[in-house]
Amino acid sequence: MLNKTKVSDPLLYEIVGKELERQKHNIEMIASESTVPVEIMELSGCIFTNKTLEGYPGKRFQAGSHVADELEILANKRGMELYGCDHINIQPYSGSTANYAVYAAILKKDDKVMSMKLDQGGHLSHGSKANFMSRFFNFEHYAIDKDTEQIDYDGLEKQAKEFRPKLIIAGGSAYPRLIDFERIAKIAKEVDAYFMVDMAHISGLVAAEVVPSPVPYADFVTSSTTKTLGGPRAGFVMCKKEYADKLDKGVFPGSLGSMHLTTMAAKCWLFEYAKSEKFRSIMRQIPVNAKHLAKELENYGFRIVSGGTDTHIVLVDVRNKNITGKEFDDALDYVGITVNKNQIPFDPEGPNVTSGVRIGLTSVTQRGLREKEISEIASIMNEVAENVNNKEKLDELRERADKLIEDFPLYSDEDLKEIM
Ligand SMILES: Cc1ncc(COP(=O)(O)O)c(C=O)c1O
Repeated sequence: MLNKTKVSDPLLYEIVGKELERQKHNIEMIASESTVPVEIMELSGCIFTNKTLEGYPGKRFQAGSHVADELEILANKRGMELYGCDHINIQPYSGSTANYAVYAAILKKDDKVMSMKLDQGGHLSHGSKANFMSRFFNFEHYAIDKDTEQIDYDGLEKQAKEFRPKLIIAGGSAYPRLIDFERIAKIAKEVDAYFMVDMAHISGLVAAEVVPSPVPYADFVTSSTTKTLGGPRAGFVMCKKEYADKLDKGVFPGSLGSMHLTTMAAKCWLFEYAKSEKFRSIMRQIPVNAKHLAKELENYGFRIVSGGTDTHIVLVDVRNKNITGKEFDDALDYVGITVNKNQIPFDPEGPNVTSGVRIGLTSVTQRGLREKEISEIASIMNEVAENVNNKEKLDELRERADKLIEDFPLYSDEDLKEIM
């Protein structure tokens, strides 16, 4: 794939090669990451990159669009089949822009929106103060229950009845449990609000029917394609039939410019691949591995937020080990296990230090790791936590981690020839 770059820009080729080596030897456990099939890389750089296009099939602003029309129509068809939705728009560049497209479609300046708190599992694009959307809309955040560390649905209902939002958002980036979409949809209906689910993290698990789908309950469902779905760096959004026109206008011209036809081609391939038994069996194993890791870490004395997981995410409170999330994240990175420091609900520490880490099981499951290897990872993690400042011990653990991942190649030799 990079034969020409190798000659024309050896320095850049070397940097890409270094990243490949890093990924090969690393145990990647960042919850938003995945290891994509080579076709995704091929299509993400395919000839469609030369084409500029705005609008929709049959209503384009540029000539020469008939082949791209074919692509977009096929991708839409495959996406709609995969999720059983009334309408899909696959033009969003990412999960965040998919969310902005829904806001553009249905909200006016200063409209009220309710979403999950960022430090309790929500996402920046759901109206965090740090995100510019908070300047245009009036966001209020619902919380999780302090005891169960799961969404406080009664509290959400009470708050919605008082606040009367125009939109309620469910879904987040560090919420390991199932969300009762039906219940929130009912609340939204009662207060005459739209209901949007951001399923960015779980869209692969939803596609494989491993977790319940929000599609029957939500007016709008947004997603990125990079997380459990394991696709290109992009997004998409679905909606009920009656909102199709509104949504399409919210995407273009409402919030985006010309479409990225290359990642659209990759999404087209992905939506078909996600129907395969190969994809579905990986998705089934992900929560099995995640539950196993949660149990093992709990046995080593870590506290698991919400007491477990139903998805690919394990959120770990590391305070029992007398370390911070940042210290644990740094030490794990040193031994070749990448996770991210993450605030836990009601965290006394700020986002740069944190009391927890978020661990994702997608990439390791794609590489073929099962319960036996997850037990070894948990054991290494525990020793890392107890030796964050002991370089000699960390070096030993680095060897153990490398030995473990060596048997589970990132890509086959044949694929590696394609990649570089
Ligand atoms: C719930 C949620 N929504 C949206 C996003 C943003 O997706 P992207 O990075 O594709 O813009 C993320 C990313 O972490 C996420 O967790």
